[in-house]
Amino acid sequence: MPLVTTTEMFKKAYEGGYAIGAFNVNNMEIVQGITEAAAEEKSPIILQASAGARKYANAAYLKHLVDAALEIYPDLPIALHLDHGADFEICKSCIDGGFTSVMIDGSSKPFDENVALAKKVAEYAHERGVVVEAELGTLAGIEDDVKVSEEDSSYTRPEEVQEFVDRTGVDSLAIAIGTSHGAYKFKPGTNPQLRFDILEEVAKRLPGFPIVLHGASSVPQEYVKIINENGGALKDAIGVPEDQLRQAARMAVCKINIDSDLRLALTAGIREHMAAYPDHFDPRQYLTPARANVKAVVKHKIAEVLGSSGKAL
Ligand code: 13P
Repeated sequence: MPLVTTTEMFKKAYEGGYAIGAFNVNNMEIVQGITEAAAEEKSPIILQASAGARKYANAAYLKHLVDAALEIYPDLPIALHLDHGADFEICKSCIDGGFTSVMIDGSSKPFDENVALAKKVAEYAHERGVVVEAELGTLAGIEDDVKVSEEDSSYTRPEEVQEFVDRTGVDSLAIAIGTSHGAYKFKPGTNPQLRFDILEEVAKRLPGFPIVLHGASSVPQEYVKIINENGGALKDAIGVPEDQLRQAARMAVCKINIDSDLRLALTAGIREHMAAYPDHFDPRQYLTPARANVKAVVKHKIAEVLGSSGKAL
């Protein structure tokens, strides 16, 4: 089947109390690992590309890699999403280039500017059958070109969400409830706790409306350990507890963004292989276990965290 939008995916996910994984793609092995996992789990999937991914791989390569996945898995519902579109032009270029979903990230702008920008993108996208995600509230952390310090981050204000959605016409909304981008989400010794009270209040004000969680990697400690035991230095890497993500998926959250966990899985595979076989220099030798790690982590997320196994049927 051709690429789909997230409309149907989110409707079913909301009603079914599960979420769709939105996994960041940067190269062939990552696309392969994710889609193989999703096909085996029979789970709908969102593949998303950030500005950094487009810069690294070239947008054309990414699009064609995703097209290859569609050819290999004709029964798998796949949406192609722009992650953190910074302005109208990048959203337009992705919409024109075949993406089925874009995010316009005006979260660092004043409310009215965020509204005006999201509305402009939504109008352009909807005329072309593409859906739009926007963000209210600001996540801390680092993701490619998006860097926000803890002092500049802020929780979503539930009293703003209804007006924002009404005025912009966007199709889904990312909110800030304590997640953050990157592998260092919480200080060691603290008790990671998402603000479910905010999520609940948002859901009350936007009944049936799909909510998105960015910065939702759980930073699997087994991969952190493998990386550190094989020459890495990831100190105090801490993610979102998976039971809290599962809880969010049962509530109004329909899309959960995961990038760092894929990076950790891939890097752990490469480092472990390189340390065990110092004489190897064929990329296929070390990228094979790295890709298998990506697949394993995505299968685990789908089955145990998102709850989307079997939902592509
Ligand atoms: P993580 O860094 O937690 O994987 O978040 C990724 C993300 O939100 C992409 O937009």
